[in-house]
Amino acid sequence: LRALFITPEIFPLCKTGGLGDVSAALPAALRDLNIDIRILLPGYPSVLSGLKVKRKLAEFNFSPHFPVATLIASRLQVHVNDYVPIYVIDCPELYKREGGPYSNAAGEDWPDNAQRFGLLSRIGALLASDASPLAWIPEVVHCNDWQSGLTPAYLHFHDGKKAASLMTLHNLAFQGCFPPGEVGRLGLPSESLSMHGLEYYGNMSFLKAGIFYANHITTVSPSYAEEIQQETLGFGLQGLLTERRNHLSGILNGIDTTIWNPQTDPYICKNYSIRTLAAKSVNKLALQQSLGLEVNITIPLFAAISRISHQKGYDLLLQIAPMLEKWSAQLVVLGSGNTALENQLIALQQAFPKNIVVRIGYDEPLSHQIEAGADCFLMPSRFEPCGLNQMYSQRYGTLPLVHATGGLQDTVVDTTPRTIANETASGFIFDAVTPQSFLAAIERALATYGNRRLWRSLQRNAMRKDFSWKTSALAYRSIYQKIAFN
Ligand code: ADP
Ligand code: GLC
Repeated sequence: LRALFITPEIFPLCKTGGLGDVSAALPAALRDLNIDIRILLPGYPSVLSGLKVKRKLAEFNFSPHFPVATLIASRLQVHVNDYVPIYVIDCPELYKREGGPYSNAAGEDWPDNAQRFGLLSRIGALLASDASPLAWIPEVVHCNDWQSGLTPAYLHFHDGKKAASLMTLHNLAFQGCFPPGEVGRLGLPSESLSMHGLEYYGNMSFLKAGIFYANHITTVSPSYAEEIQQETLGFGLQGLLTERRNHLSGILNGIDTTIWNPQTDPYICKNYSIRTLAAKSVNKLALQQSLGLEVNITIPLFAAISRISHQKGYDLLLQIAPMLEKWSAQLVVLGSGNTALENQLIALQQAFPKNIVVRIGYDEPLSHQIEAGADCFLMPSRFEPCGLNQMYSQRYGTLPLVHATGGLQDTVVDTTPRTIANETASGFIFDAVTPQSFLAAIERALATYGNRRLWRSLQRNAMRKDFSWKTSALAYRSIYQKIAFN
């Protein structure tokens, strides 16, 4: 089966969050299941310079609204001697600029995002139809998040033969909404701008287009698939998602167990496994040392790594952090994002320099060192479609402490007398998004930490779990087969 996987980011060429990781690992896992999968991605400077072999395939000149773009074929290295074919859209006017893929260095959205991702969506649709200039035509086109949400819409209005479409929702909070006038400029018929189409509160929404026109929709965890049908987490799309529930499934993300493997991780001080768990402490001491914290194996070390945003619950973390002094515990935070929250975190570090270290920025090696060195990983996310760090953490024997939401509650087993007895306990879960509830879970974790034997057994439970992509890739493959051949 042939599939085209469209994504706005991919590790290691360009990554702002979990979608980057998923976009590299999932196609590789599907390819191992004999899917002939190819990736389509915008040609940001880091992408063009990161790919070695490049071959020009076709040129697109859609309308005065879109600058001329060139399609380039290359291959992405996913593991040693292991490659997945990748198509890159070279369009310097839209993609050649300093800054992030969606926003400039100051965090403001690029003003021409409708055009930038309209082009991605449009080329994706063209390649997935009988109008494609290529000989290779996919039977399934797999769209990811709003940036490729218009592909199913373009396909819907294409009269010839076309691929079936799958829309994966990684995060409903980002919808790609633009003024209604964009519809015509993007080359879509005005009739699409209706409630039964891509209209969303008077604007056009890339994401709604994907949800409305795709043959099937997936989210990145089963719990999130349920949550987005409710008002609280549906972001205004709960009605449409409920209508489409027979074409909506939740498939848990996996993790790349080659990159996130404490036995072979090249970034960490000492490799370890479930059998040599004592060696994890070498990484803790090295981390404390490099962060300038007191080097002491008995001090509990908490960690957080993520985009610094309201979604990730940093306001809760800010409220409980002063307690670290009383607990004689340490906390390291690595991330970047919302400037106001960043500044509050920095102020906290200044107020409690013995307990808190904050590193603003994006740092891949440090993120591995933290996973290996910390005792407990905090994810008080308000909502979390899947979340990857709680899975990385479990694989590294770093117990996650998470809010009961989305993929977090689908992948972490709370520590209770029952789960201790049946050897499934692998972390700590709290129910309400309140500082009190978060605090109570941390106190529970600290009490458990005091019982070294119990903590060790929880670490083993966590490390034994299988978070590889295998099961999930099989689930995606059956959806591909169902929509392609029905
Ligand atoms: P989201 O996609 O919502 O940001 P995920 O948990 O799915 O959340 O994925 C986040 C990914 O980005 C993880 O691989 C995490 O390690 C990584 N990450 C986030 N912030 C940073 C950072 N500042 N430095 C290094 N890695 C980071
Ligand atoms: C999103 C979500 C995150 C998920 C990731 C990959 O950015 O916020 O929970 O893990 O996509 O699917």
